Amino acid sequence: MDAISTRPLDWLADFPAIPEGWAYLDSAATAQKPQVVIDAIERAYGETYATVHRGVYQRSAEMTLAFEASRRRVAEFINARAAEEVVFVRGATEGINLVAQSWGRDNLKPGDRVLLSTLEHHSNIVPWQLAGAEIDVVPLTEDHRIDLDAMAAMIRPEHKLVALAHVSNVLGSVLDAKRAAEIAHNVGSKLLLDGCQAVPRLPVDVQELDCDFYVFSGHKLYGPTGIGVLWARSEILEAMPPWQGGGAMIDKVTFERTTWAPPPARFEAGTPHVVGVIGLHAAIDYVTGIGLDAIHAHEAALVAETRDALRSLNSVRLFGPEDSTGIVSFAVEGVHPHDVGTILDEEKVAIRAGHHCAQPLMAALGVHATARASFGVYNGRRDIEALARGIERVRKIFG
Ligand SMILES: Cc1ncc(COP(=O)(O)O)c(C=O)c1O
Repeated sequence: MDAISTRPLDWLADFPAIPEGWAYLDSAATAQKPQVVIDAIERAYGETYATVHRGVYQRSAEMTLAFEASRRRVAEFINARAAEEVVFVRGATEGINLVAQSWGRDNLKPGDRVLLSTLEHHSNIVPWQLAGAEIDVVPLTEDHRIDLDAMAAMIRPEHKLVALAHVSNVLGSVLDAKRAAEIAHNVGSKLLLDGCQAVPRLPVDVQELDCDFYVFSGHKLYGPTGIGVLWARSEILEAMPPWQGGGAMIDKVTFERTTWAPPPARFEAGTPHVVGVIGLHAAIDYVTGIGLDAIHAHEAALVAETRDALRSLNSVRLFGPEDSTGIVSFAVEGVHPHDVGTILDEEKVAIRAGHHCAQPLMAALGVHATARASFGVYNGRRDIEALARGIERVRKIFG
């Protein structure tokens, strides 16, 4: 087992919104922001602010350079072949809706199907329903992973797309994405990976994973809200129609006919979230400065210790596999997860309680809700101890 890094206290000092004595265990919902990201946002609004791609003046030209430098940084971060494969969106939700509405319009014909899994976030279920797709669902293994043997047995050429979470936001289980890609590609299906919970926790290389689409949100990666990324292979993006119309996405407009700009501009109608893009660049610099391998090892060790600590309180039920990454869902026998969350809050421990936007998964687990502790670089052993103490108090209160 990897050891919990001895450096989290240094990393914690980077985060001004985490006061001494507060155990922030809700990074899977949104990560706190390091000072370097806050500084980058302040500079972008304060000293260097201007629009992009439109201004003829120096300031706007400079902001455009910074904006496009961020796109290149994202491409490098996920090992895309080219910056043009990176589309800025509001977040993972918008990225999946974009694929469903644009790629789906051209590629999902009556009778075509989409293959999802039991553990998907609502944002990887509802967009496919809105696109009118027929949906099939890959079950989970006993230890709460997406069952790829079952997927291999059930996939058919009618499944034009497989869309799966790279890491589950509830269970922390990590998908064997390369195997999923192989199974999907064997029948000519495309693979979309929802990387929301993976990108802050694992090194991600879209070429190595061999997926076709990858989406993630900046705010879970220590960056700003309102900015995220859709990556797709350039040949796929080039063939996709626009999904929203407006400024920036056109080549030529007349009242009779409009032609489109090439990707990624084709998918970025309107004034973009300029400052969000700049903040995302700073966030990527921050996590790569620490190293995704180091973050992964640190969070794996936190999860292992948390699971051990909670197991020893024998009225706690744990969900997810033993080697889950960064996330531990649990239930305290006889106590509603919301009550667990409220009492933990009194103990200065912030967790999430609820269905985690994964109601079909809750149904499969046979619960209405779970309590969830999720980690970031700033967490350490003291947070696990605070969590365990808080759960002891829950047990005392509820007898
Ligand atoms: C696995 C997963 N997918 C998608 C989303 C949606 O992300 P956002 O709300 O940032 O678009 C989340 C957020 O909780 C998530 O955890």
